[in-house]
Amino acid sequence: MNLERKVSLGSVNIYPEALGLAAQRALVASIREIARAAPLFSPVTSSGKKMSVRMTAAGQFGWVSDARGYRYEAQHPRGVAWPEIPQSLLDVWKAAAPHARLPECALINFYGEGARMGLHQDNDEADFSQPVVSISLGDEGLFRVGGRERGGKTASHWLRSGDVVVLGGDARLAYHGVDRIKHRSSTLLPDGGRINVTMRVVT
Ligand code: SIN
Ligand code: MN
Repeated sequence: MNLERKVSLGSVNIYPEALGLAAQRALVASIREIARAAPLFSPVTSSGKKMSVRMTAAGQFGWVSDARGYRYEAQHPRGVAWPEIPQSLLDVWKAAAPHARLPECALINFYGEGARMGLHQDNDEADFSQPVVSISLGDEGLFRVGGRERGGKTASHWLRSGDVVVLGGDARLAYHGVDRIKHRSSTLLPDGGRINVTMRVVT
């Protein structure tokens, strides 16, 4: 993994192409295994709207959203434990966040054609001194970052396959989202789409 090149987007650090093609392929294989044990599902917001991104998770906790609201849960909606976070993902975490505690959740987001994610803060975790580390795989996604308040100024950047983003320090509670995906801009996933993995310390 190569963290030598760093681009700042507001308070967020982006490491372009931190992961080479072989590492990206290995991560996709691990993520497919996770999705076999804990199938992707479409979360529903508390207002009843189906999210366009499909999700699953690995680790002690996964993030779920349904009519009861959103929260971390120790089990997949089907009632099984989440698979363990694979070593390949833990290695990325340790390189990108060497001083942090170990992640307790690797949230896996799959963006098919037309999927997007509205601006939000990652604030369901207990300890905001711990960073969130994000990995992009597959199609390019237009990432947008603001400040800690909703409605402030934002900046955008196309995230490409292999990019690693760290939301830590001042950026930990920055609003962020994905406005759109450039469908089939990458050949990493044979059917197209974008995978984003965000690792978090939950407790
Ligand atoms: C997220 O905020 O959970 C996902 C961010 C991304 O897809 O890059
Ligand atoms: Mn987020």
